[in-house]
Amino acid sequence: MTSLMEIPLNPPSYETRYGAFIGIGSNGNLWVDGCDVADLARQFGTPLFVISENELRHTYRQFRDAFRRHYENSEILFANKSNNGLAIRHIMNHEGAGGDCFGAQEMYIALLAGTNAKTLVLNGSNKQTDELEMAIANGLCINIDAMDELDRIADVAERLGKPADIGIRLALDLDPLADVPGVAMHGPGTMKEQSDSTKWGMTREQTVELVKRAQTMDNMNLKETHFHLSRMSNKAEPFAVMAREMIAWSGYIRDHTGWIPPCIDIGGGWTFGKWYGTGPNSQIDDDKSAPTPDDYARLCAEAIRGETERLGLPLPKLRLEPGRALSGPSGIAVGTVGAVKEAAKTWVNMDLSTNHLSWAAILDWYYHAVPVTDTARPADRTVDLVGPLCNSDELGPHRKMPALARGDFVAFLDAGGYCESSAARYNAQLLPATVLVTGDRAEVITEREQLRDVMSRFKVPSHLMAESFSSGA
Ligand SMILES: Cc1ncc(COP(=O)(O)O)c(C=O)c1O
Repeated sequence: MTSLMEIPLNPPSYETRYGAFIGIGSNGNLWVDGCDVADLARQFGTPLFVISENELRHTYRQFRDAFRRHYENSEILFANKSNNGLAIRHIMNHEGAGGDCFGAQEMYIALLAGTNAKTLVLNGSNKQTDELEMAIANGLCINIDAMDELDRIADVAERLGKPADIGIRLALDLDPLADVPGVAMHGPGTMKEQSDSTKWGMTREQTVELVKRAQTMDNMNLKETHFHLSRMSNKAEPFAVMAREMIAWSGYIRDHTGWIPPCIDIGGGWTFGKWYGTGPNSQIDDDKSAPTPDDYARLCAEAIRGETERLGLPLPKLRLEPGRALSGPSGIAVGTVGAVKEAAKTWVNMDLSTNHLSWAAILDWYYHAVPVTDTARPADRTVDLVGPLCNSDELGPHRKMPALARGDFVAFLDAGGYCESSAARYNAQLLPATVLVTGDRAEVITEREQLRDVMSRFKVPSHLMAESFSSGA
C-alpha cells in the first residue's frame, strides 16, 4: 500500500556523491541532505549516528518500484532489526512498508508506531508465549519455526478467542547452490552448505505435517511460506534460485496437502552497490558489481513465473524483507579524532568504537571512512582508525587519509543498518545519540545514553556493601 501523497524526493547537488542525499558539498565538507555534518557533530556531540530520512525513503522506493515493475503483486517488509528506531518505523509507515519483527520488543515498537499489523510478520526460532499473544491479539502473521509452535499458537488463539495468521519458515534444500561459493562473512563452505548449517526452517516432511494439522484447526489461517537466504551475495542469481525453490516447495505442499501458499516471503540479505564498496574486508560485497534492485526484481520475477507455469500453480503474492539494503546507506557514524600516535603505524584514535560499528570487529567489515571537513586535502598517508576500547578496536585499518589532528571529525558511511541496533556497551561505554536529518532540519531520534542509564541497572547485594566499607583498612 503506497501513501496517497508521496513526498517528492529532490536530491541536492554534491561535488562527490556517496548517496542520493549524502555527499561532499561545495564548501568541501561532508553533508547529509541539507546539513553540514561538521555542524551536526558540533551541535549534537560525537560519537553520533546521522540518518537521512530522504535517503531511507529513496532506497525503499528503489526496491518497491523495481519489484512492482517486474512483479506487481509484491510487498516490501522492512527488516526492523536493521534499525529499530521508532522514528525509522514511522518513516517506513509513511512509505507504506510492512515489517519483519524479531521478538516482542521489535513487534511492540512497530505496533506502537501504528504499523498495519497485516503487513507485519513475526519471525524467530524460539518464540515466547508473550510474543505469540501480542502477535495473535494484533493479527500479525507468525512464521512457524518449530514443530510445537503450532499447538502453542492454537492454545493462545483459543484463549484469546482470535484466529491466528500463520506461515511456515522453510529449510530449503538449495541443491542448485551446492557448487556456488559461499559468502566470506558466513565462514567456509558453499552457499548450500552455509544455508544447511543454520538453525532455521522446517523440512519438507515437517512442513507437510504442519500444514495438514493446521488444516484441521478452526482458528488457523495459513498465509505464507518464508525463507531467508541471509547470504548477502553480490550476485542476484542465488536469490532467483531461492525464489524458484520456494515455488517448487509450494508444488510439493500442494501435492501432499492440497494447500497452495498464496504468498511467498523471500526474506532479506539483499546487497547495495556503492562505487567505494562496503562489506567484509576479504570480500567487499556492496561495490560497483552489486546487483541493482531492478536486477534482483527481474531475475526473481522470471524465476517465480517460470516455476509456477511449469508446476501449474497460480502466481503467489511476493514479499521480501530487505533490512541493510534500505537502512544501511541511509546513515553515517561520526566520531572525533583524539590522540594521534606515530609508531610502527599511525594510530588515529577516535571516540567512535567497534561498540558502535560492531560488524567492523565481529565480521571484519569495511566501512568507507571520509574526513568530514576540508575533504579536498590529499589522502597522502595510511593510518589505522581505532576506537578507545581495551581491545584492538580497529574501525578502519590501513586507510588512506589526509593529515588528521585532535578535534577533526571522521565519518563512516553506510552505517544506518545494524550499527545502532547492534551497538554494545563494552568498557561501560555509553551508547551514542542518533539524529535524523530531513532537508536542513536535524532532530534527535535516539537520546545519547547517560551514565545514570547504565548505573540504574546495577544492584549491589547488601552483604557486599558492608564488606566493601569495612574490609581492607
Ligand atoms: C528473517 C529475516 N528477514 C530479513 C532479514 C534482513 O536481512 P538483511 O538486513 O540482510 O536484508 C533478516 C536478517 O537477519 C532475517 O533474519
